[in-house]
Amino acid sequence: MDRFNDRRVIVTGAGSGIGQATVARLLDEGATVVAFDISEDGLAQTVSAAADVGTDKRLTSAVLDISDEHSVTAAVTGAVDDLGGLDVLVNAAAIQRCAHTHEHTLDDWNATLAVNLTGTFLMTRQALPALCESGRGVVVNFTSTSASFAHPYMAAYAASKGGILAFTHCLALEYAKQGLRAVNIQPGGVSTALALSTLDKMPEGYDLGLWAKQTPILPQDDGGILGEPAKVASVIAMVASDDGAFITGTEIRIDGGAHA
Ligand SMILES: NC(=O)c1ccc[n+]([C@@H]2O[C@H](COP(=O)([O-])OP(=O)(O)OC[C@H]3O[C@@H](n4cnc5c(N)ncnc54)[C@H](O)[C@@H]3O)[C@@H](O)[C@H]2O)c1
Repeated sequence: MDRFNDRRVIVTGAGSGIGQATVARLLDEGATVVAFDISEDGLAQTVSAAADVGTDKRLTSAVLDISDEHSVTAAVTGAVDDLGGLDVLVNAAAIQRCAHTHEHTLDDWNATLAVNLTGTFLMTRQALPALCESGRGVVVNFTSTSASFAHPYMAAYAASKGGILAFTHCLALEYAKQGLRAVNIQPGGVSTALALSTLDKMPEGYDLGLWAKQTPILPQDDGGILGEPAKVASVIAMVASDDGAFITGTEIRIDGGAHA
């Protein structure tokens, strides 16, 4: 497929997991991509994977902390200049801290909201003029099933994802007349660094039984309960392409039916 041949794309969280898979998928479909992540090593892996399949000529990468206002302003301005405009912004970067809620530190709460919610806002705010100029701009944001369904021990993370969910709906309405679409991707458990480390992040005395409702009803190829990042990236490619032209202001839940 070549749905992104003339599309200019920014992806955050591009050095790992779903963001990395999204870069690979959109490059494969012809996009020109600027990949941002706080991890230089992660970005190097993303670039190396693109080089392996010969799509790296359309990929630029740069280290960026999306929670830093001045860095975001400079990075997005530079990316839009280099790309000659912007059609798609994928805000995949996030962190997850876990604790019993009554023990959640203010530092962890603030850090989670700063990266996940404020970082998504900062990236979007800076990209909006170029996305509206495009006339077919798309913002793909990441909420989580934790925003709509009870997930234990991650109150800050779930609250940040609930904020993103609401933020995206506001965007969809406010900029619809400029041709902008704004869509929430709502993954359940996906096999990435973030999810694979969740159990390690559990607080002392946690109750594994509280996770019972998270199990997908679809069998996974590896027999596990986590989906593959590429299966989320393929949905993002649909949503951000003209195939998703009638989708905006909503969530697309990708959880193997865990919350059916
Ligand atoms: N994996 C899951 O099960 C799952 C479930 C629901 C939602 N999500 C969401 O999907 C998105 C992608 O997550 P993932 O699972 O691929 O996780 P991941 O940990 O594999 O990737 C997240 C990336 O974000 C980057 N990042 C962290 N802080 C940053 C910052 N301040 N600035 C720039 N980059 C930063 C990390 O370096 C990492 O490369 C996230 O928004 C996550 O909340 C994931």
